[in-house]
Amino acid sequence: MSHRHHRVLSVASECAPLVKTGGLADVVGALPAALARLGWQSRILMPAYPGILEQVDRSEEAWRDDDLFGGPAVVRSGTCQGLDLLLLDAPHLFDRPGGPYTVDGHDHPDNPVRFAALSWVGAQLAMHGTVDRWRPDLVHVHDWQSGLVPSYLKYAGSEVPTLLTIHNIAFQGLFGPDQLDDLHLPTWDFHPEALEYHGLVSTLKAGMVHASRVTTVSPTYAEELTTPEFGFGLEGVARMRGDRGEMLGILNGIDTRIWDPAADPAVLPYSVENPRAKAENRRALLDEFSLEEPVGPLAVVVTRLTHQKGVDLLLETLPGFIEAGGAVVVLGSGDPAYEHGLGELASRFPRSVGVRIGYDEPLSHRMYAGGDLVLVPSRFEPCGLTQLYGLRYGAVPVVAATGGLRDTVVDATPANLADGTATGFTFGDSRQGGSIDAGGLSFALGRAIDMYADRESWLRLRETAMREPVDWGTSAGRYAELFAELVR
Ligand code: ADP
Ligand code: GLC
Repeated sequence: MSHRHHRVLSVASECAPLVKTGGLADVVGALPAALARLGWQSRILMPAYPGILEQVDRSEEAWRDDDLFGGPAVVRSGTCQGLDLLLLDAPHLFDRPGGPYTVDGHDHPDNPVRFAALSWVGAQLAMHGTVDRWRPDLVHVHDWQSGLVPSYLKYAGSEVPTLLTIHNIAFQGLFGPDQLDDLHLPTWDFHPEALEYHGLVSTLKAGMVHASRVTTVSPTYAEELTTPEFGFGLEGVARMRGDRGEMLGILNGIDTRIWDPAADPAVLPYSVENPRAKAENRRALLDEFSLEEPVGPLAVVVTRLTHQKGVDLLLETLPGFIEAGGAVVVLGSGDPAYEHGLGELASRFPRSVGVRIGYDEPLSHRMYAGGDLVLVPSRFEPCGLTQLYGLRYGAVPVVAATGGLRDTVVDATPANLADGTATGFTFGDSRQGGSIDAGGLSFALGRAIDMYADRESWLRLRETAMREPVDWGTSAGRYAELFAELVR
């Protein structure tokens, strides 16, 4: 028996700490270390956006193509904080102002080409390996941005197994069939059983059809995906893969080396055994936003400001929460209407509401450390990481009972409190006839305020939250099992 590590190529559009717009980056950046312990060596292929190459340590040429969808491209290998990276340096696609997907609030118009190119290179590396002869046993792709890898492999007749993980089915990678040729995709496979989604090409659907297996990031979301309410038109494909036993939910974990209140350089250290400094972090957060000491809990919100995240529910509910003694700090950016609404809330309650519009990683850490509550009223949430950071840092989660939120937070019902399993507050569980709305959120916040007033119960709840195992341990094992099955 060979003792060589198995190799997985992970193809993704973002990876923490190099570039991050959301949870996808955290997951892509955290999985390699967890998988390494289980015998899987990872390399991550991602675009060399501006400033990325400067952050990696060594950068050797691993692959090149003088004409990658209209321009020269080089893949450079390098390392950054223990991650083995393959960086796709293709200036005509990735060297430009803006974020990975947008500039000034609009999608880059050539996103289909940019990410088809990433996927194309992923397939080439899977088939032919790098200059230093690294060739993966399996390719792990994420969301629509790398959804075409399994298709390119299939059209080339390759048998390298592929796993697609769906982090959010709402983003589908759509473009017109007129681009098929340019993106090296065959027109004969443009039909509803393969690449076509209502007259357009969907790269996510392509991945869902062609990948050897499909996973998503929580068991509840895996079920939800098969319904019209959550499937965004792809519920049929999801059901098809699910019925064949080829789709499952594996819950995300968090990187507890980075997210550890006892060792986090952004906060005053504390732990479940010695939580004293949690109060100092709270004080510091209040001071940072010039807020008054509230009678009730200090809530934090760290999020993209979008409809998915239920920001409108917060705008409706927070005035009542503040009048009942709460305070809140919000960090996020996104929809201008929500940014504006939050600004108004802060001017109406200047001593109880702090708002920071923007993206600020260290501030997010200070908020989880300083908060008594973290609020996540999402309409749908494939997994959600902010509630996991909240658990770890003792900011008790108040969440909508959907997707991964439902799988990771145990509601403080009398029964769950009595048996010591409660870790937070949930609302709007459709299986119990609830719906995710302002009334439900408001009721959950009321319960949180009441419990906060009862010091002893509060501390017990917080301690259970902090002890919740949220690391990658179990879930990395499930990925490794699945990988092993695929390469057998
Ligand atoms: P999603 O990926 O849908 O945005 P997740 O809860 O999975 O949701 O992940 C969000 C991640 O992005 C978390 O790590 C969160 O702390 C971070 N985040 C979101 N908005 C901001 C922001 N404005 N500043 C700093 N971090 C943010
Ligand atoms: C997506 C989802 C989020 C999930 C993250 C990482 O962005 O919206 O729920 O936690 O991916 O899987």
